[in-house]
Amino acid sequence: MKVLVVGSGAREHALVWKCVQSDLVERVYCAPGNGGTGGMARNVPIGAADVVRIVEFAKRERLGLVILGPEAAVDAGVGDALRGAGFNVFGPNRGAGRIESSKSFAKGLMKRANIPTADFEVFTQPVPARAWASERGGRVAVKADGLARGKGVIVCASVEESDAAINAMLVESRFGRSGATIVVEELLEGPELSVLGVTDGNDVVALAPARDYKRARDADAGPNTGGMGAYSPPLGVDDAVVKEVVDTVLRPAVRELAASGDEFRGVLYAGLMLTRSGIRTIEFNARFGDPEAQAVLPRLESDLVALALASSKGGLAGFPDLRWSPQASVAIVVASANYPDDAAMKLGLPIKGLAEIPRGALIFHAGTRFEPGKGLVTDGGRVVTSAALGATVAEARDRALAGARQVRFDGAFFRTDIAKEADEG
Ligand code: AMP
Ligand code: GLY
Repeated sequence: MKVLVVGSGAREHALVWKCVQSDLVERVYCAPGNGGTGGMARNVPIGAADVVRIVEFAKRERLGLVILGPEAAVDAGVGDALRGAGFNVFGPNRGAGRIESSKSFAKGLMKRANIPTADFEVFTQPVPARAWASERGGRVAVKADGLARGKGVIVCASVEESDAAINAMLVESRFGRSGATIVVEELLEGPELSVLGVTDGNDVVALAPARDYKRARDADAGPNTGGMGAYSPPLGVDDAVVKEVVDTVLRPAVRELAASGDEFRGVLYAGLMLTRSGIRTIEFNARFGDPEAQAVLPRLESDLVALALASSKGGLAGFPDLRWSPQASVAIVVASANYPDDAAMKLGLPIKGLAEIPRGALIFHAGTRFEPGKGLVTDGGRVVTSAALGATVAEARDRALAGARQVRFDGAFFRTDIAKEADEG
């Protein structure tokens, strides 16, 4: 069968890499892909949100499966259009995708389905929003309602900070339309956890758990990013925790969506915090995480394409248990100088060292492209992910770090403390 992966990040490179290993697959395409996917699949120059051309391509190539990588594809309605034309799609329709694209929709759903989450209120007016935050001493998270590429959350520790965050969104419109409605919620404390569930709209199969590192710099300094690294399995997260997430968060969400007419087929990602009073849901995403996919997929020994087909066709109930490598994995993002500040980043810089990647490290490309005469150049904030398996988390980390150090371009930086907690714990 022919499979199309939609998107162009390291997540999509990892998806392509996994699809190519499937016995069910004769050819893999990636739209639009990047400098890495072009080496193992055929890149097609169609944007991830270009609904019309993706459907045309699916018809022309008689695709057996389309996997939606980024939220932009979900939100553009690529899933709806492909399903309407009779294709198997691993990724939800736009309506179900509101669980990611609208934080107020997600919070309302959590409330209705009794899913544990932070206390919150939705606001469009600054005065009541500031008052709600100030009653909590300004210790709140202020969130733009709409998609903001992982950057629409401001964590505040004082009334000055919460006033400034609320004003930035509701008065100064610094987040555009995404921030015209905001969610203000109580601050939670504890380690974070990502559990990705594959669902067919009814059953849910959890993937191996991961922990994502959202801040740009070591020791959680610097701004929030799309994710600077991840590892699996995270310290202190056993099967019982994952089961609790499936039973109290993922399955109730999937059932609530279905009950309101928004069946969800694809990956539902729960971003959680393990607080002293139990598991709390911070957010849902309607897709694989990036960089969680680069950490989780190398541990998956089962056929991803078979799993995705079962999800897309509504047949997860009879699907055999997933097989996982007992090895740990660590994924480290190598980023452009000044990431995540798009305006301050310089792109088009030559990338060196990829021919000398040490054995054991996998390089998944994100912001890379081939430029005639120059070779591979940087083309985004997150440039590549270096991922590795190891008998221990420490071994996986050493291998992933060795890979990351080999990727050289002007201003390249990466976190050196991804998964370090596991050696100390
Ligand atoms: P989100 O985009 O909702 O996942 O938020 C991005 C990051 O902000 C999360 O990964 C957390 O680190 C942080 N965050 C979000 N909500 C809260 C909260 N209620 N309390 C503490 N930190 C939060
Ligand atoms: N790693 C967080 C995300 O994919 O949204």
